[in-house]
Amino acid sequence: MTDVTGAPADVLQTLFHSEQGGHEQVVLCQDRASGLKAVIALHSTALGPALGGTRFYPYASEAEAVADALNLARGMSYKNAMAGLDHGGGKAVIIGDPERDKTEELLLAYGRFVASLGGRYVTACDVGTYVADMDVVARECRWTTGRSPENGGAGDSSVLTAFGVYQGMRACAQHLWGDPSLRGRTVGVAGVGKVGRHLVEHLLAEGAQIVITDVRPEAVERIVDEHPSVGVVADTQRLIQVEGLDIYAPCALGGALDDVTVPALTARIVCGAANNQLAHPGVEKDIADRGILYAPDYVVNAGGVIQVADELHGFDFDRCRAKAAKIYDTTLAIFARAKTDGIPPAAAADRIAEQRMAEGRGAR
Ligand SMILES: NC(=O)c1ccc[n+]([C@@H]2O[C@H](COP(=O)([O-])OP(=O)(O)OC[C@H]3O[C@@H](n4cnc5c(N)ncnc54)[C@H](O)[C@@H]3O)[C@@H](O)[C@H]2O)c1
Repeated sequence: MTDVTGAPADVLQTLFHSEQGGHEQVVLCQDRASGLKAVIALHSTALGPALGGTRFYPYASEAEAVADALNLARGMSYKNAMAGLDHGGGKAVIIGDPERDKTEELLLAYGRFVASLGGRYVTACDVGTYVADMDVVARECRWTTGRSPENGGAGDSSVLTAFGVYQGMRACAQHLWGDPSLRGRTVGVAGVGKVGRHLVEHLLAEGAQIVITDVRPEAVERIVDEHPSVGVVADTQRLIQVEGLDIYAPCALGGALDDVTVPALTARIVCGAANNQLAHPGVEKDIADRGILYAPDYVVNAGGVIQVADELHGFDFDRCRAKAAKIYDTTLAIFARAKTDGIPPAAAADRIAEQRMAEGRGAR
């Protein structure tokens, strides 16, 4: 036996001593038979069992995987608190290439680790995992959600995610223009995958004009075939500079708002589904300084987590839709708080979420 050396000191520093830390529990999981290596991070159970998806990703190092799990778990605490769910925040990452390494044996082993937490953590899908995978995990672990309809689950969450983003957008219009209607407004949607596609349908139904872009030509073709009135531009950089653009909806990857894109934005509102849109701390202030209204991503894209939380109690679409519709009021409340406190909306959302977690901790 040899001593463990080279401990990931940065991660321990983050966990126990930094402002971003304060996680309750971090579990390192290994199953040699299946090759599973996973990290489960529970940031907070102040409002209830931690809820968050399982990311399956080929991390460059184990320390990187731990750091990602810590960040994602913290993000889920804020998202769940703002969505009014009785859930804290957690997230799991499985280290590996999902195309190559994902096997039934590995997912079952993972399920046993989640089950060993006795309900402190409830898992679901994330990047690299799908409803079919959650069906497998659920065979070993009852604290699994985001399953297929054939197995009692609610299935694809993008329908309600798009609906929630649409509600957030209406709240932005109300705050900025005194009218929630998007009729006649021009909206640029970057990324017309599962969520972006449904968002386009809501916007067209309300009479908005749409411009889209996507790196996958087939995704663009599908929209244009169904809705010939939709305009197309070659890439996101062109989209954000479209003349007369009222709203920019980032619905692709994270980091959409950075030092290059923010100065170039022509829209007055940014409201989209993508997670982690702010590329670095301070961007939210740059956006506000330009007089652009930013709807915090984790607030408006909470429709999906609202759905998977509901599934735990027997999924009811109408009940979920009603909950996702409240994203409209939540977004307005954030703008009001931002104004009162003299801070950008992203900071106001964080403050409200932290307050809810502190109250929840007291109540429990
Ligand atoms: N699906 C959900 O329920 C849900 C819930 C919350 C948040 N989100 C977030 O919303 C975003 C979209 O999720 P999704 O489920 O629609 O994913 P998706 O993979 O189905 O769609 C993303 C689309 O963006 C496109 N894209 C990628 N890079 C691009 C680029 N540089 N420029 C333009 N287009 C690009 C892809 O080709 C794809 O069509 C992600 O950031 C995701 O994390 C999704």
